[in-house]
Amino acid sequence: MIDIESINAGFSRKAQVYDAYCENHPVIRWARGLARAQMLAHVPPGGAILELNAGTGADAAFFVERGYRVHATDVADGMVAEIAAKIEAAGQRERFTVQQCSFTELDRVWGGPYDAVFSNFGGLNCIPDLRDVTRALPKVLKPGGFAVWVVMPPICPWELAQALRGHWRTATRRLHHGGVLANVEGAKFLAYYFTPGAVARAFGPGFRRVALQSFSLFCPPSYMDNFPKRLPSQTRRLMGLDETLCSRWPFNQWGDYFILTMQFIA
Ligand SMILES: C[S@@+](CC[C@H](N)C(=O)[O-])C[C@H]1O[C@@H](n2cnc3c(N)ncnc32)[C@H](O)[C@@H]1O
Repeated sequence: MIDIESINAGFSRKAQVYDAYCENHPVIRWARGLARAQMLAHVPPGGAILELNAGTGADAAFFVERGYRVHATDVADGMVAEIAAKIEAAGQRERFTVQQCSFTELDRVWGGPYDAVFSNFGGLNCIPDLRDVTRALPKVLKPGGFAVWVVMPPICPWELAQALRGHWRTATRRLHHGGVLANVEGAKFLAYYFTPGAVARAFGPGFRRVALQSFSLFCPPSYMDNFPKRLPSQTRRLMGLDETLCSRWPFNQWGDYFILTMQFIA
């Protein structure tokens, strides 16, 4: 069971301030670049992208600018309104569309089949069983198409290190089975953490793994806002270390997020 009402309430409250926060955050800007690069590497411009949990549509607008067609979906009223404003501003109504829809209802999605299904920054961590999303993928993805998903894993060493400061609950929160209570602008709902292997398995045998890269293993997670402010050059060095090592096992299993790219082989 997912609590769509609370998710809608929390993320809708966040929607108006979301872009300003993300655009001014060096770690978020860098991480978006990594996820977008996966899409650019696998799907050429002109391709059609279905975006799940698109938030304010920042990535959607980027891909539209790069020549893709993007159908952006999200469940939160406030986020959908932000996407609609971006569509208006882009003046690209044939190539940039929005639909309010949960990723558990992909049967309802129009405009397919797509060359890729993109999901950034842990929207998919709001659901306990990813098969409720993956079972509809053969209907919305073309054979040979890609899924590029950015998901939060259970092992985040920066978070585990909080135990050294006595913050035991924060340190171990991702390890709880059965979900962890998240609080987004006062709205509470459960979040779930998945290993890369568990996400890949949820796709089933019709998909093959193409790439796996984690980030914020060495570079601190974006919510540690003060680190890049106090130590900008160290932050850049740690980003470099992530980029060098985090596509390789075992580093690609750990971090604040991982980017998994799967291909639909039918
Ligand atoms: C952390 S935000 C990420 C937004 C965007 N992908 C980004 O990169 O900024 C998570 C998003 O997931 C959306 N979301 C959560 N559960 C969802 C669901 N069941 N269906 C569709 N969207 C959902 C929220 O409304 C929110 O916009």
